[in-house]
Amino acid sequence: MKYDKHFFVCQNERSDSSKKSCGKEQAQMMVQALRDSVRALHPNPAAAIRVRAQACACLDACADGPTLVVYPEGVWYGGVKTSDAHEIVKAHLGDGTPVQRLHIHRPQASEQAESTER
Ligand code: FES
Repeated sequence: MKYDKHFFVCQNERSDSSKKSCGKEQAQMMVQALRDSVRALHPNPAAAIRVRAQACACLDACADGPTLVVYPEGVWYGGVKTSDAHEIVKAHLGDGTPVQRLHIHRPQASEQAESTER
């Protein structure tokens, strides 16, 4: 695995308002806030390059947006604000315990496979 931690932030922005979307501007601010927090909190600056935060397309959790997901834990967050970035990074650079107040449940690939086998 190239990165120890990988933060994906939805940047999808719909032109119509028929369905909620996370938003490009919000995502760019969140990515920068995550990167700033990694730099501030990582105990080893040389190893901080093994932590990546980037914007991505729709994560298909639109109703819970703005959303982000952290790997390898596969922890999903909804309703995130840039002011939450520091707390999220701190949790995942620490013991990986999710920030409960922002955590949203999304089925993991293994759970989806089980449900289709039933
Ligand atoms: S628009 Fe962000 S999850 Fe779909």
